Amino acid sequence: MKRAVIQGTGHGVPEKILTNFDLEKIVDTSDEWIMQRTGIRERRICLDEEAASDLSVWAAEEALKNAGMTADEIDMVILCTVSNDFYFPSTACLVQDRIGARRAAAFDLGAACAGFIYGVSTGSAMIEAGHHNTVLVIGVDTLSKFLDWTDRTTCVLFGDAAGAVILKGEENTDRGVMKTVLFSDGGGGHHIILEQGKSRFPVDSPHSFGRGDSIYMNGAETYRFAVNALGDACDKVLAENGLTAADVDLFVPHQANIRIIESSAKRIGLDESKVFLNIEKYGNTSAGSIPLGLYEAEKFGRLKKGDLVMTVGFGAGLVWGANLIRW
Ligand code: ACO
Repeated sequence: MKRAVIQGTGHGVPEKILTNFDLEKIVDTSDEWIMQRTGIRERRICLDEEAASDLSVWAAEEALKNAGMTADEIDMVILCTVSNDFYFPSTACLVQDRIGARRAAAFDLGAACAGFIYGVSTGSAMIEAGHHNTVLVIGVDTLSKFLDWTDRTTCVLFGDAAGAVILKGEENTDRGVMKTVLFSDGGGGHHIILEQGKSRFPVDSPHSFGRGDSIYMNGAETYRFAVNALGDACDKVLAENGLTAADVDLFVPHQANIRIIESSAKRIGLDESKVFLNIEKYGNTSAGSIPLGLYEAEKFGRLKKGDLVMTVGFGAGLVWGANLIRW
């Protein structure tokens, strides 16, 4: 059977750094509160002229270079984001053009902070089914553009980033994407929502008056959801492969809150030495978070060929899921 094997990873982050001390000057908060409650020290923020496609191009080009491949080898671009450059054309098409992936089909996939999990699942299924053989999966978000910078309950949490992987079909291998589990619960959609701007509440429509034009999040509800979702998805993806937490070499979770990650890892029974963390430097980068983690884990020697990696994401939708990958 064919497996989707990761050939290379890349990342794209803006240069501008916003620290907790910078935020102290904007809202009533403190470095101590943010560090203790979230584990975030600083985050990267796009300049006005930078958008999701720019970070994505940086990530995609680095992933191609690390894979030793050229853009015309790509059959499909799946770009996971909820902060697309435009309503249309898709950001995937903008990236397809800019990197010169002339043969590739391209589309955007919106599953918020679980976007990359959904993207890898979709890309690997396409490869296993024989529809495409080389798929570029990008996770990117620039949520700093959709924050209310007077709302201390949200503006301290998010940062901007992209990460990318190249998936390629290989026969007779035990490497690659082994198993995916995906879930949704639209009944919890109101807990993390950006109401204005699309067909329900278009910007500048009288009908939209009073509707939120920036990210609203019920932190406590999201926290409760996240801890359960993360644990359940990991338990299920491991059980479906007849594996346990002891078999996992590295756990790369969505970096939303260090307390969510630590309590979930404990619940799953994962040793903390196996948990990858970079939330301190980047904050919650939504769909960018997991591929950026994979990129850094490999770069810093935490991830090598043959390792068993478990990734898990959860976010607005509500959506969540996990991937088990033999690196
Ligand atoms: N600085 C200082 N004080 C603050 C801040 C801040 N930035 N934000 C909130 N507070 C205050 C609150 O007003 C509250 O004060 P009060 O007790 O006087 O009312 C107090 O701190 C405690 O607030 P809580 O909301 O209870 O703080 P909590 O410990 O729950 O942490 C947090 C809040 C960090 C948002 C947490 O709930 C969380 O991480 N939730 C999950 C977020 C998440 O996982 N998101 C992922 C999905 S996002 C996506 O998909 C796009």
